[in-house]
Amino acid sequence: MRPAVDADAGELLTLQRAAFVTEAQRYGDPFLPPLREDLDHVRAVLADGAVLVLVAVTPAGRLVGGVRVRLDGEVGHVGRLAVAPDRQREGIGAALLAAAEDAVPATVHRLALFTGARSTATVARYERAGYVRDAAQGSTDECGIPVVHLSKELRPPA
Ligand SMILES: CC(C)(COP(=O)(O)OP(=O)(O)OC[C@H]1O[C@@H](n2cnc3c(N)ncnc32)[C@H](O)[C@@H]1OP(=O)(O)O)[C@@H](O)C(=O)NCCC(=O)NCCS
Repeated sequence: MRPAVDADAGELLTLQRAAFVTEAQRYGDPFLPPLREDLDHVRAVLADGAVLVLVAVTPAGRLVGGVRVRLDGEVGHVGRLAVAPDRQREGIGAALLAAAEDAVPATVHRLALFTGARSTATVARYERAGYVRDAAQGSTDECGIPVVHLSKELRPPA
């Protein structure tokens, strides 16, 4: 795992699109937010000092995974966790999440994320990684898809 750089933007966009097609098919919506982003958007995210982006790269140099954390005071918002379809179920997703937890500054006390409520395997994976469902649920994303909010305390508040 390493921090992403501007030169990763194209591969990261391609990876994100490939990975999230399965989710689009699950929800019958080809315009899920990860699929609406274009190259300029990804490059802007990479240039944004408030967003930590990590990528998983094979020894041969292929980019096979990525994750973002938007830093917002004591909270880090995890998103766009994606692994290349042909490299899933090898532990890359779990490793990216763990790397993100390690990489956030000490000022971040809690990581928060959401995922589609029907993506039960993904929700279960987050729970196994120590994320707990928030008490308030029942919300939808900007596409109207029901989502589950989870979070993990990294360290006690100061
Ligand atoms: C969600 C996602 C990032 C998970 O990535 P991944 O690399 O496949 O995740 P992992 O390999 O760490 O874990 C997946 C499964 O593989 C299993 N696994 C991990 N290492 C393994 C290994 N060496 N051999 C066999 N299985 C393994 C895990 O136990 C887990 O099992 P489960 O599905 O029964 O829970 C990936 O499926 C993806 O990109 N999905 C599309 C985008 C998406 O939905 N992102 C999340 C939105 S919030």
